[in-house]
Amino acid sequence: MHSNLKQVAIDGPSGAGKSTIAQAAARQLGWAYIDTGALYRAIGLAVMRSGANTKNEDAVAACLPVIELDVQYVNGEQQVYIAGENVSEAIRTPEASLAASDVGKVPAVRDFLLQLQRDLAAAQPSILDGRDIGTVVLPHAPVKIYLTASAEMRAQRRHSQLAEKGIDEPFEKVLAEVNARDEQDMNRAIAPLRQADDAVLLDTTHLSLDESIQAVVQLIRNAV
Ligand code: DC
Repeated sequence: MHSNLKQVAIDGPSGAGKSTIAQAAARQLGWAYIDTGALYRAIGLAVMRSGANTKNEDAVAACLPVIELDVQYVNGEQQVYIAGENVSEAIRTPEASLAASDVGKVPAVRDFLLQLQRDLAAAQPSILDGRDIGTVVLPHAPVKIYLTASAEMRAQRRHSQLAEKGIDEPFEKVLAEVNARDEQDMNRAIAPLRQADDAVLLDTTHLSLDESIQAVVQLIRNAV
């Protein structure tokens, strides 16, 4: 089926390579790559900086009216700003990651980001990655991909990335973290991670990065 709507939803568990693959595919197609996790991270960072407890839903919701979140695309790269400050690097710390996971459970935060994500996707041909893009944010996206890999393979890739940075974590610990994150993402009450009924399952356990990127580009070219 061919569609004029140039929107691709890529969802899947943490560590499946969604952002790397989505970014590379977007570059090949000349489309924008919209990293929705970065928006949750920016809200998490802003709440953390305000001194509010990121685990307190009411406190998080109360912060939202004063958070000045802005997103820009500079040479195809997404830049995220809070009150005019570019926080694209600051949102990558483990603390910001935990804060993002906390605020992502708050319905008011998901509502706050819903329209922003839809507006960004409507403004330009886009590939969005996240957890609920195909199920909630863009239910009419002509291409939906559920990108996954076995927990062992995702842990192995993460373990190698850490080793490259000189961080020597036991493999068993990395695997336990991958499983804990899956459990949290799939079983949360709001917008749990699940494959949309009309999403294509792409399992990259036995694919190289380049093969995964080409598979995504092909799925998109066939559909739009
Ligand atoms: O993909 P990431 O690690 O940057 O995501 C950060 C957090 O935000 C993660 O805990 C899941 C959450 N998230 C979400 O709930 N919905 C999205 N569409 C994207 C991310």
